[in-house]
Amino acid sequence: MAILHGLSPAPVEHCRVLEVASNEGANLIPMAYAIPGSEFVGFDLALAPIERGQARIRDLGLKNVRLFQGDLLEVGAEMGRFDYIIAHGIYAWSPQPVRDRVLALCAELLTDHGVAFVSYNAMPAGHVRLMLRDMMLFRTQGMGDSLERVEEAMAFLRFVCDSRPEDDLFRSLIEAQLKRMENRTAAIRHDEMSEAYQPVYFLELIEHAQRHGLEYLSESVLPPPPDPGYRAEIHKVVEGLAGGDILRQEQFLDFLRMRVYRETLLCRKERRVQRDFSAESFRRLLFASQAVPVQEEKPGAAAFVLPGGIKMESNLPGVTALLLELGKAWPNAVSFETLEPHLAGAGRVLDAEGVALLVRLAISEMIELRAWNPPLARTIPERPKASAVSRHDACTRDRTTSLLHLMVSLDDIKMRTLLKLLDGSRTRAELLQAMAAELPQTPFAELEEGIAGALESFYKSGILEA
Ligand SMILES: C[S@@+](CC[C@H](N)C(=O)[O-])C[C@H]1O[C@@H](n2cnc3c(N)ncnc32)[C@H](O)[C@@H]1O
Repeated sequence: MAILHGLSPAPVEHCRVLEVASNEGANLIPMAYAIPGSEFVGFDLALAPIERGQARIRDLGLKNVRLFQGDLLEVGAEMGRFDYIIAHGIYAWSPQPVRDRVLALCAELLTDHGVAFVSYNAMPAGHVRLMLRDMMLFRTQGMGDSLERVEEAMAFLRFVCDSRPEDDLFRSLIEAQLKRMENRTAAIRHDEMSEAYQPVYFLELIEHAQRHGLEYLSESVLPPPPDPGYRAEIHKVVEGLAGGDILRQEQFLDFLRMRVYRETLLCRKERRVQRDFSAESFRRLLFASQAVPVQEEKPGAAAFVLPGGIKMESNLPGVTALLLELGKAWPNAVSFETLEPHLAGAGRVLDAEGVALLVRLAISEMIELRAWNPPLARTIPERPKASAVSRHDACTRDRTTSLLHLMVSLDDIKMRTLLKLLDGSRTRAELLQAMAAELPQTPFAELEEGIAGALESFYKSGILEA
């Protein structure tokens, strides 16, 4: 996002990254493995998760990541400066001195071209969650901090909900929140039921950041397609209301979005953030796409669908050629130079229309923009090798983080077993033999039938390495 907005952040391959309140380093450790030329530091107040993370780092033999126990209120300049600082799940869930320290630390430790990521519960829809939180806390007063307490609180909310008339507005509101909270007991304990829970308005966060010499860069992702900001008639009104002030405009849009959560990027106030994307910025990025072509009945149109089911039709030959090219390359990315001829026409450079088209494709998630190439396999090798992080995860947990930093579920025992064996030493036939030995209850034919699909799925999710 920083590159797209015209900044020059440190290259991903050679940078320093800090995660404050990193817990066990679930975010940092896969990044440290995938980016050996960069350095990663994390700290957390809680010792137990830090020790779990340190054990994982030792097991993986990683030298470029360090976790330590530390308090946000005490650590500082001794850690050095960082190109990227991550503060996820801390700002809106902490008392005021800690919140202030999060931003003060970003200001103290961020390099001149550095980028900070701050996530937080946002307003105005935070009010709905606060209403429910008050009821949950009142019902469970004096019960101590436990998962049973969360269950009691949820049961009470269900009772409140059921006691409301069928067509009641509050009933629908509570029902929607209960649905969101289902099967998330541990997360609710940290979120809604934590000691400190303070959603903030976007502008409050930004003004707080500005007091520390930081400035708004963008959100961590482009707003998805149904965003009211993309509707011309709405955009015009909001622009008028905000008097041309882009930050006030964002705040007005948050009212329309009924915003509940944000992931905001900040930079130093001296940086000049470009709000209109240029061909120059795109030229510095890599492109990827998971869209696959599907049969389209309309003559002259091509259709593509994303794994989540989102579909797009286009009658522009350039878009079709671009998505087909990227589809062939996935999970790998392709440089702008390779793609430009498709979009602009052979021998021509990308004009404003071409840039607008790329922005639309990025917003609809038909294309993904990357700032670096992870060390991914380019095909499924004869002796496939999975990342050591994923092989380690297959032994210890039910999900893994791929080299693309995507979360991949490992619920299936056959998938987990295969993943553990993918150390690059075995052919498919040898993998099958080894799986059969590990899973004697599973018919051999079933293993044989599933192995190609499983390898393809590991390859596509970015688990197989070069
Ligand atoms: C929701 S977790 C976020 C963990 C991690 N950032 C992630 O995204 O997975 C919040 C973390 O903040 C830590 N924390 C709370 N107050 C802190 C402080 N004053 N200094 C350092 N860590 C703190 C907690 O121990 C907890 O691990």
